[in-house]
Amino acid sequence: MARDVSVPQRVALVGGSGFVGSNLALALAQSSDFDPFVLDTTDEKLALRFASEAPCAFRRCDVLQDTDVLEEAVQEADIVVNLVSHVLPKTFLDNPLGVIDVTLHGSMNVINAAVRNKTRLIHFSTSEVYGKTGGSEAPFSEDHSDCTLGPIDNHRWIYSTSKQLLDRIIHAHGLAGDLDYAIVRPFNFVGPLMDWLGDDADDVPRVFASFLNALLQERPMQLVDGGKSRRCFTYIEDATSALVHIMREPERARNQIFNIGNPANETTIAELAELMRGIYRQETGAGAQVTIEPVASEEFYGAGYEDCDRRMPDIGKIQSLGWTPQTGLQETFERSIRYCIDNAAALGAASVKAPV
Ligand code: UGA
Repeated sequence: MARDVSVPQRVALVGGSGFVGSNLALALAQSSDFDPFVLDTTDEKLALRFASEAPCAFRRCDVLQDTDVLEEAVQEADIVVNLVSHVLPKTFLDNPLGVIDVTLHGSMNVINAAVRNKTRLIHFSTSEVYGKTGGSEAPFSEDHSDCTLGPIDNHRWIYSTSKQLLDRIIHAHGLAGDLDYAIVRPFNFVGPLMDWLGDDADDVPRVFASFLNALLQERPMQLVDGGKSRRCFTYIEDATSALVHIMREPERARNQIFNIGNPANETTIAELAELMRGIYRQETGAGAQVTIEPVASEEFYGAGYEDCDRRMPDIGKIQSLGWTPQTGLQETFERSIRYCIDNAAALGAASVKAPV
């Protein structure tokens, strides 16, 4: 039976009160086509993102325990988005079993509920699935690139392995004909609410928050193994717009994997440190004396770390749905830094030293 297009589609965002989920919920709430509701263990980021809007519907749910709450939401929804994950590389190193619990077992509960209820699934995979050989493989292609990981001792790859297994399980359900899905692979999204700031929140956050914390607290910005690795940073509004394109194209997106990233925004991490320090100076007048210093990965992350030297997406598939990224590297970091400075206290940056 054809769907009544005058009725907004109900979208359940599971694990949807994190950085990506809260920004996606806002983008969906601002579109007349969708009616989002969020399941998560806390609504802190969601509340911050919807501060000046009508609040987004929220249900408290731990996907490992509250399986009845999850089942009911997936039954009600037209689309279920699975965002359940640990996302910080430092967590992969410090708590590999926790990564398996949440990322693998938590996501399996979501996938199985989608299969049982015949609900369309949009599943968040990761660019980490491609592994480490970006220098020779670039750009990474969803349907052609190999997934190349280091030895088991380098347990940084536990997250990538969990996500790869989930991608393969979802793909196998597609082959069995019992799941309508799209898998998305984010390439370093940046923007409002990415990781908490401050001394102890998020322990060691991802590079954007890590560098911004250093600038706010006037301590050295640390370049892991000299900052030679390359990433393509993608502004979150471009990313959520890509997701809306996928949601609006159920037939063309059906059982496909999509990279979402901005290849034009490639930078080394050393260049990023200079860029962020320059923007911070321009925004606050402070930060000039903050130094940029190399640190060994073993010292920064502990044993078991291994990096992807280059992470460049092939975005031909998502572009064929009519999407293209709009936000350049400078603007991506200007907007992200400005948001953090304007909302420093709410983000946990209690020890802001810079005059704003
Ligand atoms: C991370 C996670 O693996 C994924 O959860 C996620 O999919 C991905 O980010 C993403 O945002 O898309 P990664 O890019 O390695 O992957 O994460 P970051 O912690 O942001 O590190 C980026 C690079 O900066 C790495 O080379 C890292 O060693 C370096 N880094 C990080 C520094 O040089 N200094 C820091 O203070 C922090």
